Amino acid sequence: MVALLAFIYWSTANFIEQQTEATLDAEIAGLAEQYNQRGLSGLVQVIAERSAGERGDAMLYLVTDPQGKPLAGNLSGWPRAESVRPGWISFPVESHRGKDLQTDMARATTFTIPGDYRLLVGRDLRDAAAFRKRVAGTLAWAGVLTLGLGLAGGIVMSRNMLHRVEVVSNTAAGIIHGDLGKRIPLTGSGDEFDQLATNLNDMLDQIERLMSGMRQVTDNIAHDLRTPLSRLRSRLEVTLLEQPDTARYAEVLRETIAEADRLLGTFTALLGIAEAESGSRRATMETVDLAEIVRSAVELYEPVADEKGLELEARLDQPVFVRGDRHLLAQATANLLDNALKYTPAGRIAITVTGDRKFARLEVADTGPGIPEDHREAVFDRFVRLESSRSTAGNGLGLSLVRAVAQLHGGTVSLADNHPGLRAFLVLPAA
Ligand SMILES: Nc1ncnc2c1ncn2[C@@H]1O[C@H](COP(=O)(O)OP(=O)(O)OP(=O)(O)O)[C@@H](O)[C@H]1O
Ligand SMILES: [Mg+2]
Repeated sequence: MVALLAFIYWSTANFIEQQTEATLDAEIAGLAEQYNQRGLSGLVQVIAERSAGERGDAMLYLVTDPQGKPLAGNLSGWPRAESVRPGWISFPVESHRGKDLQTDMARATTFTIPGDYRLLVGRDLRDAAAFRKRVAGTLAWAGVLTLGLGLAGGIVMSRNMLHRVEVVSNTAAGIIHGDLGKRIPLTGSGDEFDQLATNLNDMLDQIERLMSGMRQVTDNIAHDLRTPLSRLRSRLEVTLLEQPDTARYAEVLRETIAEADRLLGTFTALLGIAEAESGSRRATMETVDLAEIVRSAVELYEPVADEKGLELEARLDQPVFVRGDRHLLAQATANLLDNALKYTPAGRIAITVTGDRKFARLEVADTGPGIPEDHREAVFDRFVRLESSRSTAGNGLGLSLVRAVAQLHGGTVSLADNHPGLRAFLVLPAA
């Protein structure tokens, strides 16, 4: 604003100056014509005429002889200290205004006329100075007004901003003090603050969802470990109440060890899932051949299949490379094979590994009972087992681990119908 006002002042002042010089130029042209037509005496006469009376139009004239003695004009003498050479000059002049004598600046141009006579044509800058002063005053007021309005506007705006920041901060404080349901109120204007509030609220919702998910998992874990632990305890208690019998004791201890192993297995599975989900194994990833990993898993399960009379068919001819954690991938494959073998009473299991430039794909297809479509998402949650599988051993953690491993590798796991049976796909990005 200051720069703008300064520019306005400067350009106005410039304009006034140009105006003054243009007037003088016109006047000089007129006098030159008079001189050409009527010579020096004509010029002196014209100047005498023009400078008679009041200096109303602010024009200044002076003609002097070579010695500097005035011949005609409304100046009493040649301005002091000003050069005699032709050109533009500025000097102070005195003029009567009312009663008092006043000094103003004047601007003039001077000439030397043949015969060493000198001519001065000028204009006092009284009106120009007054006008300039007026402009400066107006601009100063404009500046003051701008400053005042700017300050007031700034105060109002920053108050408003600070208030809205305070609302966000109060909400955060409320949440810190335990009121997790608190959300930032929206003003409904849809501005940046509202967008920020919306995003923060969404984030809080997401955190709340995750927390309740976590709570459910912990509840599940507590519940699922409680049952086997209390079973284990009551078995020991009942045995103690019976007649002491070494053979009986040995049998119960063996059962107890088996039960404890199962519990440990559950813990290991839970820890494995947590580890995969936390992504802490991402650092140990290397380029591995998925087909080779699957081949060794299949070899491990071949005796089980033989025992159950199931046909195990693996198509793993080509190496398919992925970036991954060998141990976790082997565990995920084993879980899928384990399910296929466990839930298929009779029939065949087909294992295929294929790969293209983008994806590596493991498919495990069985001819068992399959999973109804509306349960195909739920079975990936921890401890979820279908009603029909209650008779078989298991924790309901196998598919949770597969999903966690898939996600850790940036891939997906999905289930589909095999008519009859289940087809499980593990799709990973190719290396
Ligand atoms: N191939 C399959 N055929 C039919 N049902 C299956 C199959 N795979 C999984 N399921 C169903 O999905 C449920 C969850 O499987 P998941 O592997 O997570 O747990 P689990 O096999 O019961 O126990 P775990 O794998 O921890 O020993 C199973 O209980 C079973 O009901
Ligand atoms: Mg399983």
